[in-house]
Amino acid sequence: MCGIVGYIGHRDAYPVVVKGLKRLEYRGYDSAGVAVINEDKLKTYKKQGKVADLEEYVQGKQLESNIGMGHTRWATHGPPSDENAHPHASSNHKLAIIHNGIIENYDAIKKELTKKGHTFTSQTDTEVLIHFIEDIKLHENCSLEEAVRLALTQVVGAYAIVVMNEDEPNTLVAARKGSPLVIGVGKGEFFLASDATPIVEYTNEVVYLNDFEIAVIKDDKLSIRNTQDVPTNPYIQTLDMELEAIEKGGFEHFMLKEICEQPRSIADCMRGRLNAADGYLRLGGIREYAKKLENADRIIIIACGTSWHAGLVAEYMFEEFCRIPVEVEYASEFRYRNPVINEGDVVIAISQSGETADTLAAIELAKSKGAIIFGVCNVVGSSISRASHEGAYTHAGPEIGVASTKAFTAQLTVLSMMALRTAHNRGTISLSKYKELLVELENIPSKVEKALQLNDEIKVISEIFKDARNFLYLGRGFNFPVALEGALKLKEISYIHAEGYPAAEMKHGPIALIDEEMPVVVIATRDKSYEKIVSNIQEVRARKGRVIAVVTEGDDVIPEMAEFVIEVPAVNEVLMPLVSVVPLQLLSYHIAVMRGCNVDQPRNLAKSVTVE
Ligand code: F6R
Repeated sequence: MCGIVGYIGHRDAYPVVVKGLKRLEYRGYDSAGVAVINEDKLKTYKKQGKVADLEEYVQGKQLESNIGMGHTRWATHGPPSDENAHPHASSNHKLAIIHNGIIENYDAIKKELTKKGHTFTSQTDTEVLIHFIEDIKLHENCSLEEAVRLALTQVVGAYAIVVMNEDEPNTLVAARKGSPLVIGVGKGEFFLASDATPIVEYTNEVVYLNDFEIAVIKDDKLSIRNTQDVPTNPYIQTLDMELEAIEKGGFEHFMLKEICEQPRSIADCMRGRLNAADGYLRLGGIREYAKKLENADRIIIIACGTSWHAGLVAEYMFEEFCRIPVEVEYASEFRYRNPVINEGDVVIAISQSGETADTLAAIELAKSKGAIIFGVCNVVGSSISRASHEGAYTHAGPEIGVASTKAFTAQLTVLSMMALRTAHNRGTISLSKYKELLVELENIPSKVEKALQLNDEIKVISEIFKDARNFLYLGRGFNFPVALEGALKLKEISYIHAEGYPAAEMKHGPIALIDEEMPVVVIATRDKSYEKIVSNIQEVRARKGRVIAVVTEGDDVIPEMAEFVIEVPAVNEVLMPLVSVVPLQLLSYHIAVMRGCNVDQPRNLAKSVTVE
């Protein structure tokens, strides 16, 4: 959701902060702001709109400073506006805060503060927090760090915060609970950010702050203690991220870059883990608990959005190969039920960002009931990866476009490897099938490369359908989750209403929608339900629906009946989603561009959903 950046050191802070905000703009982009201490005064500037609007607004202002912080907002409390943008200042304008998360008991605190004479200029929970810190600081006559600590012991909710004090220009105080915060450790300088992307060009030494920890950077030193005032030693880790991975590299949009990167990201995901020639398949992150997975009575998969779709594909894989029953749950529903978790159940949590609040809460709930958690995350060091007992990273590299693309195919790759490895060890897959699928998996990058060559063809189809008001996506078996994913991609970036359905379900309702204006994307690659989906296409045609079919290369049946045919390379049906999703990603991308939409930062969406 919101993105936060802080800097303290020998450089001029504003350029570092604003560049960091641009890197984080994919997290929230309805307003932005900065704070610096210039000529002994705390100065805050904030503006509704993009970081570019903020830059224009601060032109000509005196901003030189060795300390600064900035924020990109994704609105929760109060609509996007200059007033609601962060940083927020205290009553006396000496303290300022930036915040990612939600302070749930802000209303009660606000009432108390109002009684004491505090007035507020915004509708945000964050402004209440900085007034609360100020109130404690004045009454306890304590340092900023102590006031922050005392305030946080009374706060309910999630936060990553950075706080500055005009009277302590050599100090930044930061804290987290539930929302991510990374500290970059440079030579005589420190960087704070919601993720490592603003930090990587300055240093690759980072400290991931844990929940309930407060970091104080003061006089060139970093110290950490928790909200109970117990100090801990900062654990410095080396960042594994290249600068080029977070830049557009000549592409018009991050989304297109990330779609095109998939042959490499899938290969990266398998690197060192799979060697089909030797029958070698290992996931280094799953060792101690591997037997728990192999002997599981049931697997519960929890995730949201696109990651949930990857979970649906995994359900088919684990049931097919491992013969273990699988349930795929929306994390947001799972966490508020009273789910039955028995000894012998294991949980797989899937998340690109590793920070999704609902998935994190669902993990904590499952853990409290004794479940073993396997995390499948993309962001190294993320909260979900740390909350899991074991897991496997997807190694897709940073995904900046808000619509998930390469993370999805990397998730499918990891989940395929997990399912195949588990099946092999359980003895529920024949050796020949196992080896055949390892070879198939190893060949996926080249098949995805081939699918990407469909780009021009798909552009032509996009031009024809760009003004459609609705789309239907149909698939069966392994391609049913792909239909859901295709529909999600289209609606989130082009704002066209789209629905994904299992093709056979069409007769139970959606068929009523079909007329000569309805584009119906049917994923109809060769598999065991091929004949059935051919019948579904006939049913759509009989009602004059406009069929765009994704078929296996060489298909000579469907081209006779579909208006448009997109041919993807032949792949074993189990792994087909890795390839059949690619034309759907391209279709949504081109339609959105043609409609003039901001594909990388679609309205109302945030890359990392750190509030529920
Ligand atoms: C869709 C999309 C979202 C995410 C969802 C979960 O393109 O990106 O639906 O998949 O918000 O996010 P993660 O995977 O970070 O938990």
